[in-house]
Amino acid sequence: MAQKESKTYTCRECGYMTSKWLGKCPSCMTWDSFDVTPSSQQTAAKASASATPAVKLTDVTTDSSVRFKTGMSEFDRVLGGGLVNGSLVLIGGDPGIGKSTLMLQISKYLADGGKKVLYVSGEESMSQIKLRANRLKINNPSIYLYSETDTDAVVNKALDERPDFLIVDSIQTMNKKELSAVSGSISQVREATGAFMSLAKNEGIPVLVVGHVTKDGAIAGPKILEHMVDTVLYFEGNNDHSFRILRAVKNRFGPTNEIAIFEMAQNGLAEITNPSELFVSKQSFDVPGSAVVASINGTMPVLVEVQALVSTLPHEGRPRCVVDGIDYNKLSLLCAVLQNRVGMDILSKDIFVNIAGGLTINEPAVDLAAILAVYSAGKGIVMPKGTCVFGEVGLAGEIRGVSFAEKRISEAFKTGFRRLIIPRDNLDAAKEYEDDMEICAARNIREAAEWIIDRAKNNRGDAK
Ligand code: TYD
Ligand code: MG
Repeated sequence: MAQKESKTYTCRECGYMTSKWLGKCPSCMTWDSFDVTPSSQQTAAKASASATPAVKLTDVTTDSSVRFKTGMSEFDRVLGGGLVNGSLVLIGGDPGIGKSTLMLQISKYLADGGKKVLYVSGEESMSQIKLRANRLKINNPSIYLYSETDTDAVVNKALDERPDFLIVDSIQTMNKKELSAVSGSISQVREATGAFMSLAKNEGIPVLVVGHVTKDGAIAGPKILEHMVDTVLYFEGNNDHSFRILRAVKNRFGPTNEIAIFEMAQNGLAEITNPSELFVSKQSFDVPGSAVVASINGTMPVLVEVQALVSTLPHEGRPRCVVDGIDYNKLSLLCAVLQNRVGMDILSKDIFVNIAGGLTINEPAVDLAAILAVYSAGKGIVMPKGTCVFGEVGLAGEIRGVSFAEKRISEAFKTGFRRLIIPRDNLDAAKEYEDDMEICAARNIREAAEWIIDRAKNNRGDAK
């Protein structure tokens, strides 16, 4: 009996592999999506595995991982101090958020610094890019444009041109002819990312790849790119605000959660170096339901205002809870704590909470600001003037200490706040400010609430 050649089948949508042809992919549930895996692909994978020799740790030099500054200081900070040679950075964000604008501006900084940049666009023609460049007043001969969607052609062009820096806008438009899947499908996106990754690693060229975020919030294909690349930056913001937040959600060469804030203006993105002043400058000081939190994003302290509105139900039915900028479940939990530990009737009311300016804060230190904003709105009392708060709130209503307390306090002081409500556990960090600031170091939410009521009753205007 002749020996049967073993075949592998690959799902063209998600890359799932099987030894038997299947009608429906068990991984992504797509029908009729299996193709025979080209044997070249299988053998190539095996061959490349043994091609590179193992090197002694002591013999490895670190030259290849030297950082260089792009010149755009906020962007460099998010990367952890500049771009690492041979790294692949993914910039994800909603369509229209400003990714291409950011890429072109970074190209300008690099070109001004004497670097050669190859900007590959699979979305726009050269004249469209030129139009944007005119708007941004960018005109530098060291920026090379290339309009192409073929992954191999782009890699070859990069090998020919040997730029110091490669930009691919966007990864969803790149495709490999051998694959039957359409552009933007998981297997195409994965192949393209793999190709640019090897280019970055083998040639030491840093590559910046733009990726559109799909409706459900994941970069297409879902999470597949994140583990492949070195750094993942998300460009966040919404259309109601001109602020854009660039956040490092993964970084092999720097701290995660680091953020940089930009403002989208008529002629491009402007870096904002003092975000605290910006976010609290319009704080609603004399309205109940506003509390300022000193949050930490990566290594950067940012003061932001949490706003809350509590209204008695005008309608029949379940009370509503609408949240923007902090976690919905966390807020429900905080409201339950208010109801049960402080005895405030809150769960029967409609509650609206948001972070002014469109920032999203995920760290637990925002708990205290959120709960106090809701408390202040529910009671109809204004927070004492110039108060900044931070702290994690537990189910028993206890306020727990958080990290970077000193950094938070110093940012609050610098921005002009002279009152603090902080966890008792963090009191040590406030020692040097005791003469200049009025400090409430609370053990639980009840103590914090009493401190606020006391100041409202005595109508003690300004702090120290
Ligand atoms: P773009 O960079 O094309 O977004 P993306 O690549 O993420 O899809 O930015 C598009 C938006 O930015 C568009 O709505 C117009 C706005 N914009 C400005 O407000 N000012 C500018 O200088 C530029 C170039 C764009
Ligand atoms: Mg674009």
